[in-house]
Amino acid sequence: MGHIVNTHQAEAWNGYEGEHWAAHQQRWDAVSQELNHHLLTAAAIGEQDHVLDIGCGNGQSTRLAAARAHRGHALGVDLSAPMLAQARATAAAEGVSNVRFEHGDAQVYPFEAGGFDVAISRGGIMFFSDPVTAFANIGRALRPGGRLVFVCPRDVHRQDWFVAPMTALLGRPPGPAGPREPGMFSLADHDHLHDLLSRAGFETVTATGIDVYMTYGSDAADAAEFVLGMGPVRFYLDQTGRPAEGVRSAVTAALRPYEVPGGVRMPGSFWLVAASRPLGDTLGTSPSGGRHF
Ligand SMILES: C[S@@+](CC[C@H](N)C(=O)[O-])C[C@H]1O[C@@H](n2cnc3c(N)ncnc32)[C@H](O)[C@@H]1O
Repeated sequence: MGHIVNTHQAEAWNGYEGEHWAAHQQRWDAVSQELNHHLLTAAAIGEQDHVLDIGCGNGQSTRLAAARAHRGHALGVDLSAPMLAQARATAAAEGVSNVRFEHGDAQVYPFEAGGFDVAISRGGIMFFSDPVTAFANIGRALRPGGRLVFVCPRDVHRQDWFVAPMTALLGRPPGPAGPREPGMFSLADHDHLHDLLSRAGFETVTATGIDVYMTYGSDAADAAEFVLGMGPVRFYLDQTGRPAEGVRSAVTAALRPYEVPGGVRMPGSFWLVAASRPLGDTLGTSPSGGRHF
């Protein structure tokens, strides 16, 4: 394991939050399913590419990247030991051999300079205490001309998956999230996002809005059970001591309008971000142009 500077995030993702994601791997993958196509199409991974997946969690995006880079490799890096255990076990069970997972903090992880053709992330890059340092570190891991492609949530008010259950929980709509705080909505502001990536040394930065449906369960009661088990929600319930039954029925009612025959499908809106490490940028690249594998 490398050096960790995001200690608060590491505690959460190695504690209840990460345990919940690890225990509900398939459910979380169903939540993010529609993002995969957007992410992987934009990443345009070649069959010989070396791919870095930042905040890979249970590793679905890493395995999908590895399938495209079938003559190359994919490396997933994450803070969460329980999720990495799921990632390794799933890759082994599926017989995916050109994939590797490492425990570390992507903000400071000593990636081999210039070792990757493309870096991707499905929502694993919003939690850095120092995003410019973190994105610069990821940039150094890319070869000159290498690409960074990721998805991250847009403004809170566009996210039914967040607003509907939180309004039921709080009794009022959630307030706007501050874009400067590490957390789910930290990259929601387009100009801020653009500025961070530019300051981290990336060029040709684009952010395209994508609207998806996120599947939260088979019906409203099932989805409410899942939502009430999530780390931040559990924390809120523990702090306020609100009675579980009242909360459960309020959240179930809030999710019922989203029930469709395939399950509970809730609209979400994301940025699909693409950026490149400048072609002429040789800073930080090892003279041998060393590879990670
Ligand atoms: C919202 S989850 C997404 C997980 C996975 N990408 C997916 O789509 O299922 C965010 C992930 O980012 C990881 N993460 C947060 N900060 C990180 C950091 N500084 N370095 C590495 N991973 C980090 C967390 O441990 C967690 O697995």
